[in-house]
Amino acid sequence: MSVTLEADVAKAHAARSAAGLVEPGMIVGLGSGSTAALMVKRLGERVAEEGLEFVGVPTSVSTAELAREVGIPLRDVDDVPSVDLNIDGADEIDPQYRMIKGRGGALLREKLVACIAKRRVTIVSPEKVVSRLGAEMPVPVEVSRLGHRHVEQRLKKLGATTTLRRTPEGMIFVTDGGNVIIDCGFPALADPETLEAGLKAVVGVFETGLFLGLCDVLVIGRPEGAEQIVTRARRWTGCA
Ligand code: A5P
Repeated sequence: MSVTLEADVAKAHAARSAAGLVEPGMIVGLGSGSTAALMVKRLGERVAEEGLEFVGVPTSVSTAELAREVGIPLRDVDDVPSVDLNIDGADEIDPQYRMIKGRGGALLREKLVACIAKRRVTIVSPEKVVSRLGAEMPVPVEVSRLGHRHVEQRLKKLGATTTLRRTPEGMIFVTDGGNVIIDCGFPALADPETLEAGLKAVVGVFETGLFLGLCDVLVIGRPEGAEQIVTRARRWTGCA
């Protein structure tokens, strides 16, 4: 099996395993990205095959569109008191179940929905599991479009190697919320909690792609199946 095909099969197993955790009547956070899209499709199959009734809270415009296509009724994040179960992908996850997210640009809404969830499930293929965050992947930081050049200078002062995210066509990438993303390289990222606090203190920063204490169950898909790990990740106080 090619590496790409193996990763796709692994993602599908993780997605299917997590979709099996959804029960009738739940309010479910629907993550963004390719793995989350497979989970949304699987939930659509469950709606069609079993008549499963639940409500989805999408974390991006693209997830909302897909969910509607497959017949999942939706509510906005502000229209629900809380979320019973949130299922989302990740770009990296470390041994303390701390994550980098946001490669797809949906980090602000993803973190808002994760923060109101009673149980958070992360679905990944094995290459997302890393020994240290940030060695390979920058931390996406969503910032105000107005003043973003000044924000970028402040991020550089925190030690970041910065890149303003652009579309493949070379235009500035604009998030669903109308903001921009500065990808911040920190290859020697030793203390994600301190870095998160430092980044959030910069005026103009709305959210970072560091998701700390936001994984209660890790589902690792593999070519042959999926493994669910109930974590003892230290709860993060940032959602209070
Ligand atoms: C979206 O902004 C991201 O946080 C995704 O959850 C993350 O990039 C994982 O995406 P894939 O499942 O496509 O790798």
